[in-house]
Amino acid sequence: MSIACSYHEQTKHFYNRYAKSLGYLDWAHKPHPYRSYEGTSKIFLSWEADFQSSYNELFANKPPNVMDEKNVGSFFRYALGLAAVKRFGGQSWELRVNASSGNLHPTEAYCLLPQAILNNNPVGVKVCHYHSYLHAFEELHTYEKLTLPKQSFLVVLSSVVYKEMWKYGERCWRYCALDFGHAYRALEVSASLHGWHLSPLDLSERECGHLVGLDQKERFEEAELEGADIAVLVSRTMQNDIELDALRNVEVPLFDAPANRLCSYYQKYEIVEEMDAATKEAVVSVGFMPNISKSSESKATDVILNRRSAQAFEREKSKMELHVLFELLSGTKMENARLDLVLYVHNVEGLVPGVYLYKRCGSPLELKEEFLYEEVAPGLFLLALGNVRIHAKNFSCMQDIASQSALAISMIAECEEAIVEPIRYKERLFEAGRIGQQLYLDATSLGYSATGIGCFFDDAIHNFLGLHLPNRQVVYNFTVGKALRDTRLQTLPPYAHLKRH
Ligand SMILES: Cc1cc2nc3c(=O)[nH]c(=O)nc-3n(C[C@H](O)[C@H](O)[C@H](O)COP(=O)(O)O)c2cc1C
Repeated sequence: MSIACSYHEQTKHFYNRYAKSLGYLDWAHKPHPYRSYEGTSKIFLSWEADFQSSYNELFANKPPNVMDEKNVGSFFRYALGLAAVKRFGGQSWELRVNASSGNLHPTEAYCLLPQAILNNNPVGVKVCHYHSYLHAFEELHTYEKLTLPKQSFLVVLSSVVYKEMWKYGERCWRYCALDFGHAYRALEVSASLHGWHLSPLDLSERECGHLVGLDQKERFEEAELEGADIAVLVSRTMQNDIELDALRNVEVPLFDAPANRLCSYYQKYEIVEEMDAATKEAVVSVGFMPNISKSSESKATDVILNRRSAQAFEREKSKMELHVLFELLSGTKMENARLDLVLYVHNVEGLVPGVYLYKRCGSPLELKEEFLYEEVAPGLFLLALGNVRIHAKNFSCMQDIASQSALAISMIAECEEAIVEPIRYKERLFEAGRIGQQLYLDATSLGYSATGIGCFFDDAIHNFLGLHLPNRQVVYNFTVGKALRDTRLQTLPPYAHLKRH
């Protein structure tokens, strides 16, 4: 059995037992929410506050914005920046543009920024860490001899797995990969906002990490080491001619700045380290998501900044029009998709409540024989009629949000390759997170709210649908409806602490 297969099996939740973790939340040792590098000089970024484009123009081709300091700042702000501050009683906490399990945000971003973009100095590329709370780059190093294609910069995403381990124990690696997908889609959306392109680079996780100093173990607490996930070139025009060898061969000295310590006490789960190690030499492949037309005329940046996870839904109001469902589903389209969607339809106009299948990927999906497989719309099949609110709730670790909504979703991944090659397993989770972020945005643009659900009873869903390894497994649940607002919670604008906007 491959490590990916044993990890997946070992980190399943069952009705009578959850995947291994501490079993309670050790609040005293909750990791600090922000990675930072001590003693670094900061480049405080600005951003464009007044993007006029509407959500239905967001994904259409448009002339690219100039690549200057302000627009680079906007790119990060609308991808990974703060979206709001929540306050309750004496406590407040920040929410970000990208959704993250438990709001723990394991995904970090590094930027290789040509000095030409910053200060017209034609040579040199700065290596910076993006600090979302400060909306600033922390300068780690300058590669004096490196050049990148004109009008482009590079982003490396990485995961501080420990942040998730604190809460989720052994299942944390899955959450990090899902969160990585959310963050990556957030980068894609922000690139679209600017008319820019993302080109994922053919560099292994190890090579990506090396470029931004993540393999410099002496600068990190051992338990808080970050693993790079991907390197992507952001450019004004589609780039195919980046010299990867120049990046591979760049001389990387030991950077000066140590990483801050996020936590003072650590749990340890060896299988997580094994999973981390298992993908180091591999490259995540990123399926192309076409630009699908949207109907909402809301301002694109309002949708991006107002995306929130619903904590509860208003059951009676969570009725969805059929066109909304179709827009949500078509927004998940992707070349070489490896996930199909099973829908638990509670309240969608024009669809009888029941279980449906939305086919996204080319390969067949074998489910229980007794299902109906009646095609009710292109790619959408009715499997079984009935009220499945209780099923959706039970499958989602008894969370009411899966039953109060208009519908819940289980994302069913192709697993033949995934259970053999750990990177393919990571790709399935990455794809789930990526379409999750898109579903959140589309739902928001259409007046709905959503919630990603990483807590689910794996085999309960498999038994219900008739799924078995090595064929298919569920990797993420999701739910969409009309949010019930908690009026005790105050929502404040972000970045008041910077007093610059
Ligand atoms: C991968 C993933 C798994 C999640 N799982 C759950 C879940 O099981 N239950 C839940 O209520 N929220 C879940 N969430 C929602 C997060 O708690 C939420 O994104 C986070 O608190 C930040 O809030 P925001 O999405 O409004 O920015 C999940 C989010 C992600 C990205």
